[in-house]
Amino acid sequence: MKILVVCGGDSSEKEVSLKTGEAISNALRANFDSVECFVCNDKRHCVRSIIEKKPDKVFIALHGSWGENGELQAALDMLGIPYTGSNFEASALAMNKFATKSIIKNLGIPSAKGVLIKNIEDVEKLNYYPICLKPNKEGSSVGVEFADNKKQAKEKAEYLLERFSELIAEEKLIGKEMTATVMGNEVFPIIEIRPKKGFYDYKNKYTKGSTEYIVPAPLDERVEDLCRAVVKKTYDAVGCSGCARVDFILKNNVPYVLEVNTMPGMTQTSLVPKSAKAAGINFEELVKRMVEFDDRL
Ligand SMILES: Nc1ncnc2c1ncn2[C@@H]1O[C@H](COP(=O)(O)OP(=O)(O)OP(=O)(O)O)[C@@H](O)[C@H]1O
Ligand SMILES: [Mg+2]
Repeated sequence: MKILVVCGGDSSEKEVSLKTGEAISNALRANFDSVECFVCNDKRHCVRSIIEKKPDKVFIALHGSWGENGELQAALDMLGIPYTGSNFEASALAMNKFATKSIIKNLGIPSAKGVLIKNIEDVEKLNYYPICLKPNKEGSSVGVEFADNKKQAKEKAEYLLERFSELIAEEKLIGKEMTATVMGNEVFPIIEIRPKKGFYDYKNKYTKGSTEYIVPAPLDERVEDLCRAVVKKTYDAVGCSGCARVDFILKNNVPYVLEVNTMPGMTQTSLVPKSAKAAGINFEELVKRMVEFDDRL
C-alpha cells in the first residue's frame, strides 16, 4: 500500500503541520513499506501532485484552511482516492465553530452562549460579559481575546475584524479546560489541560513545559461518564470519522463543548497521542489505526 502523507500548506498553522507530517511519516514507516512525506504549498499544487503520485491512501496532515475545511477531502472524493479522517461535510462543519455550536446546542449538548460578529454594530447588541472573542474559522488559539465590557469588546473586535471576516463572541467560561479524543466508537482517556500562566493560548500550546497535562483527568465517575457521552454525541452530531478531538470546559461539573478538531495536532507531544498512550496505544499503533480506520464501507 502506497501512503502519501500530505503536510505544509499555506495556513497560519503550517509550521505545526510540518512537524505533524514528519512525525506521522516516521511512525508509519514501522508498519508500511511505501510512505512518502509530501510538503505542499498551495491547494492546486497539492491536488495536481496527488494525482501524479497515485497513492492508495492520503494521510492528511494539514491544519487549517483547505486541508481542514473539507475542500481537499471533496477533491479526493471526486478523484476516488481514499484519505484519513472526516469527510468533507464533517470537516466543513467542524471548521465553522458557530455552525457547530448551533447544531450541537439544538441536540441538547451544552455549549456557551454565543453570537456571530461580522461588524462592530454586532458588538453593540451584546448584553453579556465577560466574553471570549475568537475567529469563527481558525485554530491554535490564533486571535483569541477576552473582554470584560463593551468598550474593550469594541476595541478588540475592531482589531480582529481587520484580520478575520467572522468572529464569535462567546460567554467566557470559567472552569477546567479539557479535551478528549474519539476514534469511531472509542473515547480515549480525557486530558485536563493546566497552563502554568494565563489561558491555553498559542504560546502555552507549543512551548515545552508551559502547560501541565493530566491524563486521565481526575474526575468523579459520574462526571467522567457525562463528559464521555457528551464528547461522543458531539463527534456523531458533526459526522466525524477516524480520529477527532473535542475540546470542552468543565464548569460546575457540566462539559461545555468549545469545538471539534477534525485535524488535531499529531506531533509526538500533541494531545491526541497523549490520550492514545493513556489508552495503551503507542504513536506507531495510533497512526496505523488511523490509516486502517474505515467506516465508509
Ligand atoms: N468561551 C470561552 N471561555 C473561556 N475560554 C475560552 C472560550 N473559548 C475559547 N477559550 C480559550 O481559547 C482556547 C482556544 O479556543 P478554541 O478551542 O475554541 O479554538 P482553537 O483556536 O480552534 O483551538 P485548537 O488549537 O484546539 O484548534 C481554548 O482552549 C480556551 O483556552
Ligand atoms: Mg481548541
